Amino acid sequence: MQDYHSFLAEILIPEEELKNRVRELGEEISRDYAGKRILAICILRGGVMFLTDLIRHIKPLVAIDFMGVSSYGSGARSSDGQVRITLDLSTNISNQHVLIVEDIVDSGNTLASVIEMLRTRNPASLEVCTLLNKFSRREVDVPIKYCGFNIPDKFVFGYGLDMDEYYRNLTFIGVVDLEKYEAEL
Ligand code: IMP
Ligand code: MG
Repeated sequence: MQDYHSFLAEILIPEEELKNRVRELGEEISRDYAGKRILAICILRGGVMFLTDLIRHIKPLVAIDFMGVSSYGSGARSSDGQVRITLDLSTNISNQHVLIVEDIVDSGNTLASVIEMLRTRNPASLEVCTLLNKFSRREVDVPIKYCGFNIPDKFVFGYGLDMDEYYRNLTFIGVVDLEKYEAEL
């Protein structure tokens, strides 16, 4: 197992900055949903850290549920538009105020499929909150209501985002030096 220091190109978003921005997002969501109940749907697995930190700052009633989607196999670094549901919700979302919580929107393929599917289940409202947005990589348009950070087209890891399933537990977002990472595999 590699120590991440050997392939960390730079720390893109340090822990303090993440904490502050997540709190701001929680406060904004709290204002927008005042008097309503929220169903926060976390897209597994990358969104887990963000979800658990975000909901600590949400004041209205909030329930959570999880949806597993797989957009690309292990080893691949971009999604191809083939999105599979690996775990479905256990909640009926009809007439609920659904807030999708995602780690990162890259091509947009994953979220576009999730949104299309959830819309057919008639939620009262459906919005997206993503921690990171790689806008320059967008292939399909997705409506993002809440966005933590717009980031450049670099492969990132940490704070929920993985490198081949590891390093999700790091407290910051780092940029991967892919050449160094792959050289050591
Ligand atoms: P999209 O379908 O291309 O928008 O890809 C979205 C999914 O790809 C995210 O939910 C992440 O799991 C993954 N992903 C995209 N970019 C990165 C990255 O830089 N690091 C780690 N995972 C990423
Ligand atoms: Mg991933």
